[in-house]
Amino acid sequence: MDLYKSRFSERTSDIAHKFNSSIKTDYRLYPYDIKGSIAHAKMLCECSIISSEDCDLIVSGLESILEDLNNGKLEISYESEDIHMFIESELTKRIGNSGKKLHTARSRNDQVALDLKLYTKDKTEEAVLYIKNLISTILKISQDNLNTVMPGYTHLQIAQPVTFAHHIMAYAQMFMRDLQRIQDLSNRLDISPLGACALATTTYNIDRFSTAEKLGFSKVTLNSIDSVSDRDFVVDFIYCLAMFSMHLSRLAEELIIFSSQEFNYIKISDKYSSGSSIMPQKKNPDMAELLRAKSAKMYSNLMGILTMLKAIPLAYNKDMQEDKIYLFESVEIFEISVEIITNILETMQVDKFRMREMASKGYINATDAADYLVKKGLTFRDSYYIIGEIVKYAISEDLSLNDISLEKYQEFSNKFDEDYFHFIDLDYILNQRDVFSGPSPKRVQEQINIVKEKLDDSKK
Ligand code: ARG
Repeated sequence: MDLYKSRFSERTSDIAHKFNSSIKTDYRLYPYDIKGSIAHAKMLCECSIISSEDCDLIVSGLESILEDLNNGKLEISYESEDIHMFIESELTKRIGNSGKKLHTARSRNDQVALDLKLYTKDKTEEAVLYIKNLISTILKISQDNLNTVMPGYTHLQIAQPVTFAHHIMAYAQMFMRDLQRIQDLSNRLDISPLGACALATTTYNIDRFSTAEKLGFSKVTLNSIDSVSDRDFVVDFIYCLAMFSMHLSRLAEELIIFSSQEFNYIKISDKYSSGSSIMPQKKNPDMAELLRAKSAKMYSNLMGILTMLKAIPLAYNKDMQEDKIYLFESVEIFEISVEIITNILETMQVDKFRMREMASKGYINATDAADYLVKKGLTFRDSYYIIGEIVKYAISEDLSLNDISLEKYQEFSNKFDEDYFHFIDLDYILNQRDVFSGPSPKRVQEQINIVKEKLDDSKK
């Protein structure tokens, strides 16, 4: 490393350089690094630390580097230790001596903390848009399936009737929480660390508030040592993404189950499926399986960053260079996953008849049958017992609760009457579940409207 040659008697060995270098990962920070450097240079000029001629040269030099990196004219050289050094040396190549003034009153420690914060801010804003789009897709599916009766499950055993709209709206709630969690980060991301320098600020008369304002931060960090040691915001975001991926893995699992021949509730589009190399008939839900699997990587990144940060003494230590590996990977997995799931949902077909058919099985209306007897004056436990006996009888005769004659019912209890059959009808049951948050089409419509409103509100 040429930069260190005055202090060092020997060059860093090639293998040490390779081990130490982060440029293959942190090149992704270049737009943020350049933005931060421009703000820093302008502030140095405002504070009369560099001349306006130097400042103009630095700013236009950095702008030309940004342009050339964006359009591929300039290739990033892996000779540099990291992206910060690459940009600085490229600047000096382009503008000469003035480029050597950029790093006045700054350290890579506050520079990298800033770059990472700007990157995270950007990515949280993008994540919010992605998740909103996913929720909007779920809202559309729900709107189309308000009356699509399906079995609701507990223990993956048929429990009580719900609708597909009601079922999938549960995921809208999970993703709404993900959205809020990510939006909550914006406050903690809104604090500029720039000006902390290596750890103890500087003797130059810099203006930290000016760079903060130029970079869109409303506050600056209060303690310079913390400013360069803090990676909480990275952990926060990785955690949010891990939580999202956990939700996604549950949804993916259901898509896999629901598209199996045994369930046959949905068909995943060919566009988001794969075949088999030997079995010509096969169509496999590979994308959903991969979404399910990716959660492992997202959790391991969370564990990784927490473990890497554990017990690091103050202030900056090189361990922290590794933070980007976890962060970038989680962001990249998130971005492709959220697009894939949105596309799968948008293109899948829902088999409403099959769902209703399965909702007529499994004695799904047994709770309602018990509630009928309660309405006729029995206690819930007594009626629960009687219906249990009837279900046992129905299973032995291979009958559904709707197939048994009234006379037979009356052998179990004299409370049964003609109106009973209406009471255990699927659509009737569903409409009767008219409790806020419940499956009746009216209540699900209410849910959809509330979520829609919240989504619109958060746009403001
Ligand atoms: N590449 C380094 C990182 O990402 C930049 C900061 C280096 N600071 C230092 N004191 N060596 O963490």
